[in-house]
Amino acid sequence: MAEAFFARQLSTEEIEKRIQGFPSWLEIDLDAITHNLEEVKNRVKVEVIPCVKTNAYGHGLAPIVAHMMKRGVKQFLVAKLWEAEQIRDAGLECEVVSMDPLFSDENFDAVVARNITHTVYQKGTADRLNSAAERIGKKAKVWVKVDTGLGRVGIRWSEAVELVQYISSLPLLELTGLFSTMAEDAELDKIQVDRMVGVSDELDRLGINYGVRSMASGNAVFHRPFIFLDAVRPGIMLYGFYPDPEDRESSLDLRQAIAFKARVEQVKWVDTGESLTYSRRFIAPKRMKVGTVHIGYSDGYPRGMTKKGLVKVDGKVKPVLGTVSVNHFLVDLDGTDIDVGGVVEVIGRDGENNAHKVAELAGIMTYSLMVGLHPLLPRVYFEKGRPIALSEPQLVER
Ligand SMILES: Cc1ncc(COP(=O)(O)O)c(C=O)c1O
Repeated sequence: MAEAFFARQLSTEEIEKRIQGFPSWLEIDLDAITHNLEEVKNRVKVEVIPCVKTNAYGHGLAPIVAHMMKRGVKQFLVAKLWEAEQIRDAGLECEVVSMDPLFSDENFDAVVARNITHTVYQKGTADRLNSAAERIGKKAKVWVKVDTGLGRVGIRWSEAVELVQYISSLPLLELTGLFSTMAEDAELDKIQVDRMVGVSDELDRLGINYGVRSMASGNAVFHRPFIFLDAVRPGIMLYGFYPDPEDRESSLDLRQAIAFKARVEQVKWVDTGESLTYSRRFIAPKRMKVGTVHIGYSDGYPRGMTKKGLVKVDGKVKPVLGTVSVNHFLVDLDGTDIDVGGVVEVIGRDGENNAHKVAELAGIMTYSLMVGLHPLLPRVYFEKGRPIALSEPQLVER
């Protein structure tokens, strides 16, 4: 079915033609994602359940899920019901665990009807899910979220066994996993694992099947093998990111998959002393060639790149001039031959404008940079250097 997803895509030639018309777009190297997934698999040697929340960290949900399914991934984690539904709408029948809290019967029904595993940490949710299963006429899958010490969401570890017993007593619920999120603190992480193992030992003693136990997100994959248990849930690392500087010391070789490109919409020459952009934030130190790029902070290029950003033009690193506004920024084009329609690499995969450097210059986390990429930007997926899939969610039927 993941194969069918790619078989439905436009031809390489058609995708290449469409790119010529894009003012801005994202390029995703699926080979980098394959490489990162293999790196993680080789390290953990347990099931990998990718976290693909927030539009697969900006990389575009359905193509990423389909690609990872082709690489053997069976199960994914999402934050929102609509993300789980997007996966189903794309015809992808993998296991999907949704962490979205639900408040209407319609949404409980949708979860059951579409075979989405729902996260439960309260008896009331278990009751409503069981009722939805009765209405729909099929069993509902459940993962129980255990709060082992982060204190954010989940049944407290000391009450988890009782909740699982309750869930097991409901005829139409099927428990397939226990999970928890780490505080990412060297001392507390150990205590958290002990608490989870305490819960699973007690359930073993009671003869209650709980499926997989999963506690590790990316941080544990980098640093804490004792947290791997039965399944790990890496997120941003699968796209090639090291969220913390010490992550680079963990001997995992990750490759950034995404690049952000745009076309120059206007080129002009400005004179010495001329001011550009809001509040006259740039004053030309000489007569110079300046380009306007049709990307702004509404697209996800951080406002913090104002007067700081570096982009690549014809392979040369060039500065952003003045303000990054909602839809535009200006770039120094001196010494380049680029004209209107030429391509600027706003975020590259390596060098001065790679995503880590952009985030650092903007003073934000790589997480924020990625989830800030506008979901309606076209995304082009490459394999072995060829575009093989395109998502253009901004297109509506005309
Ligand atoms: C429950 C859960 N598991 C796993 C992840 C993946 O985290 P990371 O991207 O840090 O690997 C997340 C993301 O926030 C999450 O909420």
